[in-house]
Amino acid sequence: MTDAGTASTIRAEAPGRVNLIGDHTDYMGGLVLPMAVQMGTAITATRGGGRIELTSARVPGLLSVPLPVQDPATVEPSWGRYVAGVAAVLGATEGLVGTVESDLPLGSGLSSSAALEVATALALGDDGSPLEVARRCQMAEQRATGVPCGIMDQLASTAGVRGHALLIDCATMEITPVPVPDRASVWVVHSGQERRLVGSAYADRRAECERAAAVVGPLPSAALERIDELDDPVARARARHVRTECDRVQDFAAALSAGDLATAGALMVASHRSLRDDFQVSTDGLDRLVEELCALDGVHGARLTGAGFGGCVVALADPGVELRGWQVHAADGARVVDVDD
Ligand code: GLA
Repeated sequence: MTDAGTASTIRAEAPGRVNLIGDHTDYMGGLVLPMAVQMGTAITATRGGGRIELTSARVPGLLSVPLPVQDPATVEPSWGRYVAGVAAVLGATEGLVGTVESDLPLGSGLSSSAALEVATALALGDDGSPLEVARRCQMAEQRATGVPCGIMDQLASTAGVRGHALLIDCATMEITPVPVPDRASVWVVHSGQERRLVGSAYADRRAECERAAAVVGPLPSAALERIDELDDPVARARARHVRTECDRVQDFAAALSAGDLATAGALMVASHRSLRDDFQVSTDGLDRLVEELCALDGVHGARLTGAGFGGCVVALADPGVELRGWQVHAADGARVVDVDD
């Protein structure tokens, strides 16, 4: 990141992300394969003063937070909690006055909150590496919402590579860009149900996985026979999802690199079934949409993307196929642009 200097206007842009495969694996040290997308969130602001004052182009009202921030979870309007969470984690004392714009659909599984956090961090002058910024934004999301989320969304937003999905090993934090073939078109289709991540379901799933890992060790490399022997049926099913999903991520990355869209699509469908049956984060609406999309000519596969509980489906299709959603392209990660004032 370049230092924008004093009192100049800066613009921090951060993309949303779609996860092609590998859900509910990041917080257990597993594999994920997201890509940053061309839609995102931008903050245009002047640094200085002791408050963050931002207006949003699509939500009325002013966010006005005095620094330093003590309790981000109580900030109103509620979108400001993500901003305040970042300010709290960074220990920011120098404020910002400006605007937020976004073309990401909210609450849908395209990580509008991660994009807002990353844009905020850059706007506040965080000049860490993509991994460092992502870690701080993950912490900010946890403080803002109380949800013990993993690092995938924030890291996809900071580390995106144009034309590539990112194979991330969340145990080692190694990132391997995987080219998305020109012949593959990626669509995000909304189920019509708003995703509700805040709440206990996500934390419950994570706790169930941790219960399993306490017996069989790290889930991504645990022996399936040992997982099958777990007494607790819920922990067993959650662990089976994580273990098999990590294999699918690996196989999907290989299939994508080889341009084998049929295999990649079949792995997406298997991932959806595992999220539906073993992890139980799907909904009837998501299941129906996956089935409908998979029945269309030129669609190789589809699955819920992100946390589940509503939100969006990601589909892999041939070029020329038109679906009722957003066609997304793999984009570069977040950046700061100097703006002349
Ligand atoms: C949310 C979390 C991520 C990840 C996904 C599920 O998007 O923020 O860390 O756990 O759910 O894969």
